Amino acid sequence: MQETTRPCALVILAAGQGTRMNSDLPKVLHPLGGAPLVVHAMNAGAALSPAGMVVVVGHGGAAVEKAVHAHNDAATCVTQAEQLGTGHAVLQAAGALEGFDGDVIVLYGDTPFVREDTLARMLAARADHDIVVLGFEATSPGRYGRLVMAGDRLDRIVEAKDATPEELAIPFCNSGLMAADAATLMDLLAEVGNENASGEYYLTDVPALAAARGLSATAIACDEAETLGINTRAELAGAEALFQQARRAEAMANGATLIAPETVFFAHDTYLGRDVLVEPHVVFGPGVTVESEAVIRAFCHLEGCHVGARATVGPYARLRPGAELGNEARIGNFVEVKSAEIGEGAKVNHLSYIGDAGIGAGSNIGAGTITCNYDGVFKHRTEVGRDVFVGSNTMLVAPVSLGDGAMTGSGSVITSDVPAGDLALGRARQVNKPGLGARLMARLRAMKAGRKGL
Ligand code: UD1
Ligand code: CA
Repeated sequence: MQETTRPCALVILAAGQGTRMNSDLPKVLHPLGGAPLVVHAMNAGAALSPAGMVVVVGHGGAAVEKAVHAHNDAATCVTQAEQLGTGHAVLQAAGALEGFDGDVIVLYGDTPFVREDTLARMLAARADHDIVVLGFEATSPGRYGRLVMAGDRLDRIVEAKDATPEELAIPFCNSGLMAADAATLMDLLAEVGNENASGEYYLTDVPALAAARGLSATAIACDEAETLGINTRAELAGAEALFQQARRAEAMANGATLIAPETVFFAHDTYLGRDVLVEPHVVFGPGVTVESEAVIRAFCHLEGCHVGARATVGPYARLRPGAELGNEARIGNFVEVKSAEIGEGAKVNHLSYIGDAGIGAGSNIGAGTITCNYDGVFKHRTEVGRDVFVGSNTMLVAPVSLGDGAMTGSGSVITSDVPAGDLALGRARQVNKPGLGARLMARLRAMKAGRKGL
């Protein structure tokens, strides 16, 4: 077998409109596990450490290009102004691949589940064949292209629309993925015409054109689930379900406990350490890492955050981007944390908003405390030192800082810095009016009785 050290480049087709999504968003930008579909295709291929990655964009090209570069700024986007077919789409990458001496793998931006080892098997099969197509045994072959084999040689691919009844009976179908030497592929594609039922330039004409030149083509098989393409919202939801199932199984295999796995939702990049416990109904948005033995209690939403070892979150907590919880920190019910570091062992247990803040180790933030971080135009920081005791319902009006070991009285509105060790009281002094409570109540009751009499 050929060494897979021959350089390879990816060409990802992502120019189609995705009409059946019935959406203003280009199909490949619809999210799966919190990441656009095209990012899943990029990730599948990235495992091969490709020398280059070319994404062919068209419909919503600017938006697709932005998402592609946000994920990998080394990727090249080329534009296919008119969608004249898959063959025409691949040909748009010719300029970007000029002078590249290696293999190309063609992937689809709407096919997110292709496995790394399947791509590696395609490259390995190139040792014996010039063109390698990825096929699968379809449970319902429908509109898929059919692979016409002669032994292990692929004679040609026939699109369903152009197939005879005998050809339609073939269950071995085209996934759309193809591997070939870059220069050979571009050369063959230049010969592809559009005299077919769709009037399109088919990538699938390549094997027959190769055979006509005395080159050889083959098809290797993968599981149908890997080639699942997304064309409708229903298929997107089905793909999400499969994705979630796989991620739950993976999280548990890696040593996390999920009490009700079917109620926990992961993003493509969620990381859970060993012996993390996740209670029911938890949603992980993109960019979350949870260190070992942390507990995520029921009904939490986490995104772009880090949870330290043995920390506790929830129930009913929201960690937004930039929330960094130290080891053993505690975030309780109805607490929201954004762009804030919560120090080791610090506690924010009830009904709080902590945003744009640093809370030192061992500090206790009383119930109902809020960092007033936004003045309507700018965001400001709140710095709380170590072992600070913030009384319940304190308003920390940023920018403001509390030194180590400071305290605030409950109900305080803190607008000036509090030096270390001081107690800050920022509220009106209480006055008691002797007997007035009882007299007032009696008067109100009398008024009510008078009205009833009317
Ligand atoms: C294609 C294959 C078919 C295969 C099926 C697997 C061809 C001619 N047919 O059919 O054999 O069984 O995929 O799903 O290749 N695209 C572009 N530019 C274009 C046309 C398509 O970028 O001009 C992109 C689409 O956005 C999509 C992918 O290529 O991601 C496949 O195109 P699509 O039109 O869905 O091909 P199928 O008709 O499904
Ligand atoms: Ca398709």
